Amino acid sequence: MPWTINANAAPPGPCPAHLEAILGSGAHDAARAEIESWPGYEATPLRSLHEMASRLGLGWVGVKDESGRFGLGSFKALGGAYGVRQVMMGADTGAGARGFTGKPGSARGDGSGNRRGGDPAPTVTCASDGNHGRAVAWGARMFGLGAVIYLPSHVTGMRAEAIRSFGARVVRVDGEYDDAVAQAARDARDNGWTVISDTSYPGYMEIPRVVMVGYTVMVEEALKALRASLPTHQGSSPTHVFIQGGVGGLAAAVIGHMWERLGPDRPVAVIVEPETSDGLYQSGRAGEPRAALGDLDTIMGGLSCREISPLAWEVVGIGAHAFMTVRDDGIAQLMRAAAGGELGDPFEGGESGVAGLLGLVEAAGDAELRDAIGLDERSRVLLFNTEGATDPELYERIVGTADG
Ligand SMILES: Cc1ncc(COP(=O)(O)O)c(C=O)c1O
Repeated sequence: MPWTINANAAPPGPCPAHLEAILGSGAHDAARAEIESWPGYEATPLRSLHEMASRLGLGWVGVKDESGRFGLGSFKALGGAYGVRQVMMGADTGAGARGFTGKPGSARGDGSGNRRGGDPAPTVTCASDGNHGRAVAWGARMFGLGAVIYLPSHVTGMRAEAIRSFGARVVRVDGEYDDAVAQAARDARDNGWTVISDTSYPGYMEIPRVVMVGYTVMVEEALKALRASLPTHQGSSPTHVFIQGGVGGLAAAVIGHMWERLGPDRPVAVIVEPETSDGLYQSGRAGEPRAALGDLDTIMGGLSCREISPLAWEVVGIGAHAFMTVRDDGIAQLMRAAAGGELGDPFEGGESGVAGLLGLVEAAGDAELRDAIGLDERSRVLLFNTEGATDPELYERIVGTADG
């Protein structure tokens, strides 16, 4: 299992000011106030994985379980929909859609950018491995905008269907995630749509920043729940976090927000990627953004991408302590173990959802890495089940046998 320690990791200390400018407590507070006001908002649970902790010889392991987030099945609901909302309000994104009151459902579109009997509603668009597109489509419906979502070929039919169910138009792109990103950007330019991307690229940084700020709401919930659930004599914040990486937006939000909140006491952060989609790992080795070297073929579909987000890298490049990759092999077994309660509290872990868990299992079993990142019987490890059964058929095929 390849891993590398980040030679550029910042020494212990407060969050550097230039990183606070990317996320920042003011932006976080505004996102939290907004997102908590949406219909159906509930903090997702923090589950204790006591069996896993004792099996791996660790003090405490917990997982923030995003499988129930807004009924969309992944943490991505927080970022994509918040991006839509901020664009609609014209808030600092330079891409505001005028003429909307900003209340959920205030200006209903029919999903294709046309309002019945009126002017066309502004349209938002993005590329997606499935979850971000669902979040943007859901946000567009909530705020009455049209949505067109570009999906690369590997995204399953079920995931496309879930996006259509919010009234969005789905466009299939014959290629990788990054081809879909490029086509969404081109078509947006030609049609006057607004791109709500979770990944940044040169000349396009502000909306991905807002999307990452949306994710920090999950991180804050986790810190609050940790304070309530960890035995106080053991300390109330995690010593380690394992974060699965796609373009790096999630990792930046977790690392950045914890850095702001916990300063020098922030946890050791380990980034986990599929070995076939290893852009952050390659970037960690090189000390600057690099593309993935693998063929991107992985069961962890939400993590499959060639390019990383340069904005996310600003945080991850000095905020992550280690990068590692995992193979598909262990994913199905962990999904079944999660569902069957073999790790502790049972939960619905999706293919990309349990990637961080697999990273922890592998790291804990590798004496050299375990030592390098200081994992031991006092460690308190926080994980993120970033998605549940976002493709129910696939989930059932993998886990369903547990029932019969
Ligand atoms: C379920 C799931 N987990 C993790 C990630 C990784 O997030 P990011 O691409 O911001 O690194 C994604 C991205 O789509 C995802 O869908």
